[in-house]
Amino acid sequence: MQRIVTVDDLRARIAAWRHDGERIGFVPTMGNLHAGHYSLIEIARQHCDRVVASIFVNPTQFGPNEDFSTYPRTPDEDAAGLQANGCDLLFAPDVEAMYPFGATAGVRVDVPGLSDILDGASRPGHFSGVATVVTKLFNLVQPNVAVFGQKDYQQLLVIRRLVTDLRLPIGIVGAPIKREATGLAMSSRNQYLTPVERKRARVIHRTLVVMRQGLLAGEAIPSIEATARDSLERAGLQPDYAVLRDADDLSVPDSGHRNNLVALIAAKLGRARLIDNLVIEEL
Ligand code: PAJ
Repeated sequence: MQRIVTVDDLRARIAAWRHDGERIGFVPTMGNLHAGHYSLIEIARQHCDRVVASIFVNPTQFGPNEDFSTYPRTPDEDAAGLQANGCDLLFAPDVEAMYPFGATAGVRVDVPGLSDILDGASRPGHFSGVATVVTKLFNLVQPNVAVFGQKDYQQLLVIRRLVTDLRLPIGIVGAPIKREATGLAMSSRNQYLTPVERKRARVIHRTLVVMRQGLLAGEAIPSIEATARDSLERAGLQPDYAVLRDADDLSVPDSGHRNNLVALIAAKLGRARLIDNLVIEEL
C-alpha cells in the first residue's frame, strides 16, 4: 500500500489508474480505525479495482468546545490495518493541503435543511465542515464509488444530497453498522468511556430495539420517544435526542406515517457523545 501526503502525488497516482481504466473506490475517515472502518474498505473492494482511504482529522467539522485536539490519532496502526485489509492507497494530507487558505477562510459547502436538524442542531456547523471536506476529497480522488457507514446516518443522507445536487458522478454506498458483541456500535469515541460507562452504553442499542418493538406493537410515536429518553436518562446518559424519523429525509412522521422510519439516538456519557440508529423498514 502506498501512503501519500501531497495533492500532487495523489493526482499522479489517480491519473495513472484512470489511464489504465481502473475503477476507484474511496473510503474517507478520520483515522483511529476499527472493524467498522475496515468493513467499508471491503465493500469498496467489491465495487472497484482500486481502493483509496483517506485519514484526515478535519478541523472544520469540530465545534470550538469539541474534541479536535484530543481526537485519537494512531497513524501507524491505521496504515498497518489498511494494508492488511486490502487498501491500495492511503491519502493522509495535512491541514494546509486540504485548506490552503486556512481552516476558517476557505470555500464552504452547505447542504441546507438536512444539516440543521438533530446532530446539526446539537453541533452547529458540523455538517458544513463534513460537506466541505468530503467535496474537496471527492474532487481530489474522483472516485467511481464512495462508501459511508450507516452509523452516521444523517451524514450519509447529507452526502447523498450533496452528490445529487452537485451532479457528481459518484455512487454512494451505505454500509451496515458494525457492533460489539454487546450491541454497542463501534466508534473511535468509545475509548473515551470508562469500563463502567462502556457497560452503561449498551442501553443505547437496547433502547433502539425497544423503539422498534413499540412501533411494531402499534404504540404512538410520541410515547415511544418519551419512553426511550427515559430509559437513557435512567441509565445515567444525557440524551440529545431519541426519535423516530422518516428514513429518507429525517422529517418528523405524522401519526399515520409508520413505514420506512429510522430510530435515532444521540446521548452524552462521560466524556463521549455517542450516536446510533436502527432502520425499521417493515411493519
Ligand atoms: P469517521 O468517524 O472516521 O468515520 C469514517 C467512516 O466510517 C464513516 O463513513 C462512518 O460512518 C464509518 N463508520 C464509523 N463507525 C462505523 C461502524 N461502527 N460501522 C460502520 N461504519 C462505521 O465520518 C467521518 O469519519 C468523517 O465525518 C468523514 C466522513 C471522514 C469526513 O471528515
